[in-house]
Amino acid sequence: MKGYTREMRTPFIAGNWKMHKTIGEAVALANELVQAFGSVQDTTIMIAPPFTALSAVAPIISGTTIALGAQNMASELSGAHTGEVSALMLRDIGVSHVILGHSERRHVYGESNELINKKVKLALEQGLTAILCVGETEQEREQGITNKVVGEQCEKGLAGVSSEQMKKIVIAYEPVWAIGTGKTATPEDADATHEVIRKLAASLYSREVADKLVIQYGGSVKPDNVKELMAKENIDGALVGGASLTAAQFVPIVNF
Ligand code: 13P
Repeated sequence: MKGYTREMRTPFIAGNWKMHKTIGEAVALANELVQAFGSVQDTTIMIAPPFTALSAVAPIISGTTIALGAQNMASELSGAHTGEVSALMLRDIGVSHVILGHSERRHVYGESNELINKKVKLALEQGLTAILCVGETEQEREQGITNKVVGEQCEKGLAGVSSEQMKKIVIAYEPVWAIGTGKTATPEDADATHEVIRKLAASLYSREVADKLVIQYGGSVKPDNVKELMAKENIDGALVGGASLTAAQFVPIVNF
């Protein structure tokens, strides 16, 4: 975005392992990643193993530059919520980041903007960094309402979040049609949507908040397309699914 200062943002590459990997497999991959970039300083790196592997992965990456993320979180802190995992439990294990509002949560499990907003606020209150995922479906893109859908997801997802708390918000723009399909938004299209998000942050908050807001792109990010995506002014990082499941693919993405 013209005049906005990219230097104020550290690149952030995150791996969302989704529902993959047993504890043994997760430990093996975490060890490989620590070997590869335990001391990388100029990029924020995060991995989000499944809940069952978090406590086994935590001690392996502790003290390295790799942060531990969770893929979801309950909207309540404790109580009768069978099958849910609370922010308190995540913090207890050493989780620092949580992915919220992923398109699979929105579209497969019916999470609304209101529910996601509740989770975002709770995560922030608990000192976690929230990665708020937004993105349009293929039908919405064809209807020409991408900016409206993404804008609404951002605005509703961030309702009640203060300027100060925005320091612990990352936005991940993941067009639903690009996730796991091998189709990527062109760097130009992705950058244009990122710019819309950054302008919205400037209008909801301030120029400074917008300057500092890290916006990741997600959707079929691979070693061979990460560089051109990251070259765009408003693309500050990547939220990687399939290609984060092996060191052979994830390491070159981090070293874009
Ligand atoms: P893929 O990289 O497999 O398309 O997944 C993207 C994603 O959903 C990351 O959260």
